[in-house]
This record gives sequence, C-alpha cells and structure tokens, in this order.
Amino acid sequence: MYRMKKLINVLVIEDCVADADYNVNLLQRAGYVVTSRRVETEDEMTSALETETWDLILSDYSMPQFTVHAALELYHAFGLKIPFIVLSGAIGEEKAVQLIKAGVHDYLLKDNMTRFISVVERELKEADILLKLDSLSSALEASELKYQNYLENAPDVVFVADETGRFITINKAGCELTGYSKQELFDMSVLDLILNGSIEWKQKRFYELLQSGSLNTDFELRHKDGSNRWFAVNVTQLSDNQFLCFAKDITVRKNAVLEVMKAREEMQNLNKYLMDARENERATVAMEIHDELGQSLTAIKIDLNWVLKNIADSEKSGQKISRIIEMTNDTIKKVQRISSELRPGLLDDLGLATAIEWYSDEFEQRTGVKCNLTLEDVPEGDERTNLALFRILQEALTNVIRHAGASSVCVMLRQVPGGICMVIEDDGIGISLKKITSGKSLGLIGMRERARQINGTLEFVKTSAGGTKIVTFIPFQPMNPTPDENSRCR
Ligand SMILES: Nc1ncnc2c1ncn2[C@@H]1O[C@H](COP(=O)(O)OP(=O)(O)OP(=O)(O)O)[C@@H](O)[C@H]1O
Ligand SMILES: [Mg+2]
Repeated sequence: MYRMKKLINVLVIEDCVADADYNVNLLQRAGYVVTSRRVETEDEMTSALETETWDLILSDYSMPQFTVHAALELYHAFGLKIPFIVLSGAIGEEKAVQLIKAGVHDYLLKDNMTRFISVVERELKEADILLKLDSLSSALEASELKYQNYLENAPDVVFVADETGRFITINKAGCELTGYSKQELFDMSVLDLILNGSIEWKQKRFYELLQSGSLNTDFELRHKDGSNRWFAVNVTQLSDNQFLCFAKDITVRKNAVLEVMKAREEMQNLNKYLMDARENERATVAMEIHDELGQSLTAIKIDLNWVLKNIADSEKSGQKISRIIEMTNDTIKKVQRISSELRPGLLDDLGLATAIEWYSDEFEQRTGVKCNLTLEDVPEGDERTNLALFRILQEALTNVIRHAGASSVCVMLRQVPGGICMVIEDDGIGISLKKITSGKSLGLIGMRERARQINGTLEFVKTSAGGTKIVTFIPFQPMNPTPDENSRCR
C-alpha cells in the first residue's frame, strides 16, 4: 500500500537499547520518517519534554530506574495529549486496565507486535483530530468572549428578557442609564421601568411584540433617581420566551422636541391672548367713556340748557355755573385717569420710578392693599424697558387683587450687575406650580413674554411665607437704539 512519508518525532522510554531500536525500525519500515530519543530516567524524560516537541511516546512498563506510572505523571504534568503507547512483557489484565485508566492510549505485548503499526496510525490520527478540535473550540471561545465584551461595553443598553418582560441578561450601559444594579434589574420586569401609558397600553405593546416578533418604538422610562428618560427601543424575538432588545438614550433629543412643541403652543396661546386683550381693552375704553364721560357730559348739557333759560337770575346762574365748572373739572380728572391707565404719560415724561409711584398710590387707594415701595436710583432705561416693566407691574398688581388675597405688597426696583431688577412680592396665598407651567395662564405667559422680548427673564418664586414673588431682570439695553427700536410701543 502506498503511504505518504510522514515525519514523526518519537520519545522512547526504554532501558533496552535493542528493543528501542527494534520499535523505531518497525515504524520506519511502515513508511514513517522517524527521529527519536531514548530515555530511561525521570530526569532524561523531563529534559526531553522541555527541549523538544513530540508526536508519539512508546514506553516500557518497568525499568531499573523508572516506571511507566512515573512517566505518565510527567506526561500529565506537561499537559500532553499525544499518543502514549505501552510496550512490555506480560503484566496481567488488572495492570493493563490500570494503565488505560491512568491515561495510556493502548497497551501491546512486546512478543506480539502485529497490531503495533495500526495502533500507532489510529492514535496519531485521533491526536491530530483532537488537536484541530482544540484549536477550533478555543477560537470559538475567544470570539464569544469578544462579542460578550462588545455587548457588555456597548454605549447603548442591550438586554435579553423573557416572555413576561423579566430581565435575563443586561449590559453595563443598562445599569448606568437606569441607575439600577444588575441584581436589582434581575428582580424587575421591563414593564416596571416604563412610564408612558397605562398598564393596558404597556400590555398592548407587549402583545404586539409577541404577535409580530419585533417592536420599534420610543418609551419613557423612570430612572432610579426619579428622573425620566426617553429611549428608542428595538426588540427582536430570539425564541418562544426570549427577546433581544437594544435601547438608545434619546432624552436630550426628545426633551428638545417637547420643549419646542410646548413653546410653540405657548406662543399660539399668547397670540390669541394678545388679540383678545386688545379687543377687551377697546371695549373697556368704550364703556368707560360711555359711562363716565357720557353721563358727565349729559349733565353738563342739561345744566347749560337751564342756564340758557334762566340767565336773567344772576345769583342762581352763578351757583349753576359754579357747579358746571366743578363737574367739568371732575370730567377732566376722569379723562386723565382713563388715558393714564391706557398709557401713562408719566412714564414717558418723568420715568419708570415716578410712574411706579403713581400707579402704586392709585392701587393702594383703590384696593386698600398696602403697597410698600423701595425704588433705588436706577439708570433710566429706554422706552421699551420702561413700558415692559410698567406693564408687568400692572398685571402683577391686578393678579394680587384678583387672586392673592394679600394684605400688602412690596415693589422694589434696583440696579444689579448687568441690568435692572424689579421684584414684586405679595403676602397672599401663592401661585401653584401647575398654574405657572400649565401654558394656559396667559397673564403669566404675557409677563414672561414682555421680559423675554427685551432679552430679560422673569421668574415666579414662592416666598418663605407662602406668598408670590415675581423677579424680573432686564439687561441694560445697548446705547443709541435705532429709530425703529426706539419707536413707541405698547
Ligand atoms: N399673586 C398671585 N397670588 C396667587 N395666585 C395667583 C397670583 N397671580 C396669579 N395667580 C394664579 O395664577 C393664575 C393665572 O394667572 P394669570 O394672570 O395668567 O390669569 P388670570 O389673572 O386668571 O387671567 P388674565 O388672563 O385675565 O390675567 C390665576 O388664575 C391665579 O390662580
Ligand atoms: Mg392675570
């Protein structure tokens, strides 16, 4: 039979040189190209194993200075897997079984070597296969480790959950982005973390997933610290009861979108509010002029008619004319008040502080609510700033009398680094956070918008006594405004 010449390096553990040569010779005759070394002590075998790589070990059973068992111990100590074949005189079945148990691949009698070559061939082939399997499985292990490493350190959340939503595995990002430890998560269900929607909504999504095998949606989750986070979630079914899920933290993007939507809604509400307010203002002016001016002027007309008829009686006429003058004065005051409410001339002529003083005085007299003023000498702002602060004051004081149930209010105006600050503080019942953030409190939005339009800020704060404090900050406006910026506004 044609056999490809195969190179093998054989370690022969044998005290009898002739036996060793004979065995090597058998291998060569079978077509192997053999290199070999004979050893007969533990030291010699150790040095052989340390210095060379071997394909096959042939060993005698017992030698004057060495035994096969001692040789086997060394073989294992070096972690070898090459074929180890024992060739010896008769040793009895019990010892032969012991040898096989100790890891010997086969056992042959020296005086019956007919199976020798076929045993060597079989064992070399098996060793070769084992070697290949070994390298395959360590390659597989390495690649599995690599993927586990990727998933564990991925920036996004990766987890596997069962059909009830319980976590089976989850990576590091899952812990970081939810705030829970792996152990805590393993005791929870994905559903425990999801915020948006009712229980039915969550179950419906889950049912959809079970039906279609995949799900792609945004979820709002509750972080352990109580804050909410948005995740774009992508789920794929792995088996009947396992789901693989990738989740990306999109909180920043989502909040930006929600903020833009909220701002847009506020702007729309404000627009509508401003239009309504203008109409209401016109109606109020019309009514005031009708009721106040109309009645006064009618009375003047009646009295003037009387004067016309009784002009002969000079004493009576004198009294009447005095009354007419009184009423006319009254009317003039009313006209002044109405027009000042609409557009306080004081603001343009004498500045913000004087206008605040006048308005607060009016407010105190009209409502009986004490108004304490602290007006520091602030640099005079431009027309837009003065008007914005004055309108904010008007709305704030109107709210105080309509909603606060306050007995006093403090108004403070002062210069702070970079701008002017106006604080209006009442000792009433306070505004709820819900009203402040609802987007429907158009008076409050209007105040904030007035400040925002001139690059300022306005905040509603609850005082320690429970009342409301409105803090407005307006940065100094650039000098020499353009004619357009300086145009009158209201
Ligand atoms: N100083 C305050 N103290 C207590 N509650 C207040 C105060 N100011 C406002 N509020 C509350 O905030 C709500 C919203 O105020 P906002 O000025 O926006 O509306 P409004 O005064 O009710 O109506 P309007 O649009 O005519 O101003 C009020 O309805 C009131 O409940
Ligand atoms: Mg209001």
